[in-house]
Amino acid sequence: MTPEQARASAAERLGASADELLARLKREWPALQAALELPYGTVTPRERRELEENLVRVLADAWEQRPGELRELDREREQTPDWYQRPEMVGYATYVDRFAGDLPGLCDRLDYLEELGIRYLHLMPLLATRSGPNDGGYAVTDYRRVEPSLGTMDDLRGVAAELRARRMSLCTDLVLNHVAVEHPWAQRALAGEPAAEAMFHIFPDRTWPDRYEATLPEVFPTFKRGSFTRLDDGRWVWTTFNDYQWDLNWANPRVFVEMLELLLFLANAGVEVVRLDAVAFLWKREGTDCQNQAEAHALLQALRVCSRIVAPAVAHKAEAIVSPDDLIPYLGSREQVESDLAYHNSLMVQYWAALAPAHTGLMVETLRRFPSHPPAAAWVTYLRSHDDIGWAVTDELANAVGIADAGAHRRWLADYYAGLWPESFSRGAHFQENEATGDRRTSGSMASLAGLERALELGDDREIDLAIRRILLGHALIYAYDGVPVIWMGDEIGLLNDLGYRDDPAHADDNRWMHRPRMDWEAAARRHVPGTVEARLFEPLWNLGRVRAGIPQLHAAVPLEVRDVGNPELFALVRLDPDHGPLLAVFNFAPRPSDLRREVLEGYGLSAGREQITNEALAPEGDRLVIGPYQALWVTRSATP
Ligand code: GLC
Repeated sequence: MTPEQARASAAERLGASADELLARLKREWPALQAALELPYGTVTPRERRELEENLVRVLADAWEQRPGELRELDREREQTPDWYQRPEMVGYATYVDRFAGDLPGLCDRLDYLEELGIRYLHLMPLLATRSGPNDGGYAVTDYRRVEPSLGTMDDLRGVAAELRARRMSLCTDLVLNHVAVEHPWAQRALAGEPAAEAMFHIFPDRTWPDRYEATLPEVFPTFKRGSFTRLDDGRWVWTTFNDYQWDLNWANPRVFVEMLELLLFLANAGVEVVRLDAVAFLWKREGTDCQNQAEAHALLQALRVCSRIVAPAVAHKAEAIVSPDDLIPYLGSREQVESDLAYHNSLMVQYWAALAPAHTGLMVETLRRFPSHPPAAAWVTYLRSHDDIGWAVTDELANAVGIADAGAHRRWLADYYAGLWPESFSRGAHFQENEATGDRRTSGSMASLAGLERALELGDDREIDLAIRRILLGHALIYAYDGVPVIWMGDEIGLLNDLGYRDDPAHADDNRWMHRPRMDWEAAARRHVPGTVEARLFEPLWNLGRVRAGIPQLHAAVPLEVRDVGNPELFALVRLDPDHGPLLAVFNFAPRPSDLRREVLEGYGLSAGREQITNEALAPEGDRLVIGPYQALWVTRSATP
């Protein structure tokens, strides 16, 4: 179909009032066709025709159903495409039930988030899911229905509208890689319906699974071995994660059309940022690890083009927890946007990896080499999430900073954060210990990993102070880094590990639930009571968000450079903004004062600069500036840049 034919076919469905959509469709059609070439270039002409007709139908119908208020937002965002890059964007992520009971209850808690300066709210999976274990909602049974205990689709629309009125953007998940075995598609496949079977990867015997598994890593080795699950009739189905999560077969164009429809359905409910879950796994290829395949990128590009046609207000966020070189393509290039946002997993890992030894060597080297994102994209920066911490430290980088045995270092980090070393301040736990590889990951809440749990147990004021400083150091880091910083629910008041998950049969074998506590509103009520842990965390975090919003250098389009300042206790980054001058941010990862050489400040003309978090003039002593234990400085040239 040519762009004009696509336009004409949509016009037939919509009539003349649809000029806006028709113009965008015609403009974007070549990009959509180009993106679909790689995954579907070899389907028959009839299938291709059918795919294109379906696409026009889905796009036209979704636009027709798009509420006027959202179309208004589309127009606004076309004029302000950098909305998610702006320094006032600060995010918060939470489960609806654990934070507020249900969706209507959430509306009563928005003042709290607004107070904290939140402009982006990621609500963890909230669509209908299976009962019993469901991977925290990542096993969806119906994408058009909200999980009944949380509310209805109308409640979700209501929450989105309320957030919009407060200039907060709603983010929710779209699980693209798999559906729950209870989803009707999987149920129909189990019943032997060929069209449904074709939406999954089902094999008559072990021949193909064995061939794939020769090169496939295991994602959840302690939940289940391998990447396939045996069905009652002896066949095997691809299940990368849990045995109840069936991977979709994206080589089938119908899967693309169905998922596109669901994406636009969520966009029309008022979701402004769609978190595309586990995107690295979408395309399978024998002889590879079946991650980051070129076709997966093409599919994501195609989805992005489609939302640009129907809902330009919407941003896509890729959840790809992969190595730096594999990550960058998820943000596309200057010419071809793929996702607007992606998680900066390395920053999170490096923060923790530097904190334990009070040594930033590995962090500086890793982040110095980290490729920068295309100008229109932004990172999502974070310290904790609902997931574990995987110690993604490569042999090459470890060796480059003099760590000879990277594997031993990774194990040391996991053991340190599990609290297994006598000197450890942390109280976490191992997650997914893989006996075959020696690999182990880490669970635990921000506060517990940062030492607050142990310090409170000891009743040691100095340790409590250090733990609070570690938490604030991390947040000053993600707020100054490049993108949207996201607070994980409860970290702003120091919620500790919640071991209650052990008593819930649906959660007991997944210790990631220890860092998914229920919001403690009694503790939150102390957030302004001087001297409490809650106030000592909440108020500085509130301040960080407020200060950040006023610093133009923290816009995500401003380039970031990591500096080696010649002191392994410090981490430093510079945001070089030609219009407003440089911002130098320095972080002391040691529990003691540490020195920054004056010449580093001089190099940027900042020796008489202003520290923005405290709004105080810098006071270097002689040839050095002393930085307090775990202190962070954001230095610019003047008080109001
Ligand atoms: C993502 C989620 C994780 C989930 C997995 C499978 O990585 O963050 O919690 O287990 O996808 O859906």
